Amino acid sequence: MCGIVAYIGKKDAYEIVVKGLKRLEYRGYDSAGVALLTDGNLNLYKKQGKVANLEEFTKDKDKSGRVGIGHTRWATHGEPNDVNAHPHMSNNGEIALIHNGIIENYDSIKRELLTKGYTFQSETDTEVLTILVEDIKKNTNGTYAESLRLALQQVVGAYAIVMISKENPRQLIAARKSSPLVVGIGKDGDFFCASDATPIVEYTKKVVYLDDEEIAVLDLDDGLKLYSIDDVQKTPYIQELEIKLESLEKGGYDHFMLKEIHEQPRSITDCFRGRLNAEEAWVSLGGIKEYEQKMIDAKRIIMIACGTSWHAALVGEYLFEDLARINVEVEYASEFRYRNPIINEDDIVIAISQSGETADTLAALELAKSKGATILGICNVVGSSISRITDAGSYTHAGPEIGVASTKAFTAQVTVLTLMALSLAKKKGSISDTKFRTMLSELEIIPQKVQEILDINDKIKTISAEYKDATNALYLGRGSSFPVALEGALKLKEISYIHAEGYPAAEMKHGPIALIDEEMPVFVIATQGPSYEKVVSNIQEVKARKGKLIAIVTEGDEQVKEIADHVIEIPEADEHLIPLLATIPFQLLSYHIAVMRNCNVDQPRNLAKSVTVE
Ligand code: F6R
Repeated sequence: MCGIVAYIGKKDAYEIVVKGLKRLEYRGYDSAGVALLTDGNLNLYKKQGKVANLEEFTKDKDKSGRVGIGHTRWATHGEPNDVNAHPHMSNNGEIALIHNGIIENYDSIKRELLTKGYTFQSETDTEVLTILVEDIKKNTNGTYAESLRLALQQVVGAYAIVMISKENPRQLIAARKSSPLVVGIGKDGDFFCASDATPIVEYTKKVVYLDDEEIAVLDLDDGLKLYSIDDVQKTPYIQELEIKLESLEKGGYDHFMLKEIHEQPRSITDCFRGRLNAEEAWVSLGGIKEYEQKMIDAKRIIMIACGTSWHAALVGEYLFEDLARINVEVEYASEFRYRNPIINEDDIVIAISQSGETADTLAALELAKSKGATILGICNVVGSSISRITDAGSYTHAGPEIGVASTKAFTAQVTVLTLMALSLAKKKGSISDTKFRTMLSELEIIPQKVQEILDINDKIKTISAEYKDATNALYLGRGSSFPVALEGALKLKEISYIHAEGYPAAEMKHGPIALIDEEMPVFVIATQGPSYEKVVSNIQEVKARKGKLIAIVTEGDEQVKEIADHVIEIPEADEHLIPLLATIPFQLLSYHIAVMRNCNVDQPRNLAKSVTVE
């Protein structure tokens, strides 16, 4: 939530900052703004809406300067308008600051600053912080860097901050706590800062991920200096980025979401590359190897996540329980962290998160850690906060996911969970050799099967056209297809704004069946497997009430074809692998329906990709 970018060096800051903001726009698009230092002036430009509005607004403005900060906002405090947009300036016009996060005690600080005569233009917590820095500087007569450090000792909450000052135009000051911040070390002695590495990668591969309560001073004369909030100097750990620039572009697709849906044969392959060999019958997740016995011995494993990642966790529960016979509980991170949960030292908590930055998931993990549990992570973003605080984990290797609606990250999470379940099952002896080998071979060819589904995109598009004007939709599935139904419903509602609900197919008769009439599309996963006949009965119940039925079936199915309004055939696969296939038609259906309704597919309203506020 909220994207921040900053540059200092010999290049034109505006271009770098605005290009970076476009890459970070998935983190929020309520407003955008930049501040540029040039010849002793601090020029500030802010505009409600997308970065494109800001560009239009700055067309005829002075955009010169080699030092700049920029922000794209997902509003928390104050409505999205020009005034509340970042950067924010101090009353004396000396400093400008951008912030991602929430200052929880901003109200009391603001009241005190008001008594001292300071004035506020916006309703934001960020302006309060900016003016607090100004006030501390006035009282202590120290530097602005020092004043920011002291200010951060007073604030409660989360922040990733970059600040510039007229006093020292050769310096950027950055700090973080619970919101991500990466520093890029340029080739010409220049520096970059951003919420993630995507705005930086085209200039440098050398980065430092700031840790909580660290302050970085990026000085053109003095280089990079890192301090703790208590003023202890630290040694920066410089890492090499692995992201490829092409992965940040649309590559000829109309939307990132469509590109990411089509990337899945490759992203699933990337996910199991080097971790699975069907011929030699082994599976190995290096990252968690030394924790496997502990996982097998654990009385329970708790999987925590939010949104789509929570749906992946539900699939994981089926896989772990059925294949490895390990007890799994799946929890919404936001509920878990506030419920005073019982956590024991022999518990294993696995956090699943694409971004690795979701505030609730991070806080839930920290809680589990404080109670002595072993904490593991399944993340997509390398170097993210969750991947850094966990004892161990496995990356999903899906590549950057830019579309706000998660697609390839979900299938990659499910792939990692499948590999984990298989590895644990093998080690524990809860799976027969034959079944193990069959599943490995089947998993290896899943990418081809995903491709076969992508090849019927035109058919799915035609079906989508029939339901583009629906106001409600139901998604039904049983077993591990139930989370797929939940995920299908979430995809539809978040990008097309059609109200949709996912249910276990058998639960329908306990309430939702009352909603079914001839207007109601019902999407059902009715693939071959142990619960096929039961699902067919549920389908009959829908048809008996004249609901419109769209069924995902196994290739060659005849029975459901007779009853359903539309069938989408997917290749046959082991029941444990069906989630990886059945989710693809739902992604495509949601995508096409949203496009037909003229919705902004990649940046749906009110959403942001990385939810770093609770
Ligand atoms: C939905 C979606 C969200 C995320 C959720 C968790 O398409 O993307 O529901 O899954 O915000 O995000 P991560 O996985 O980054 O923790």
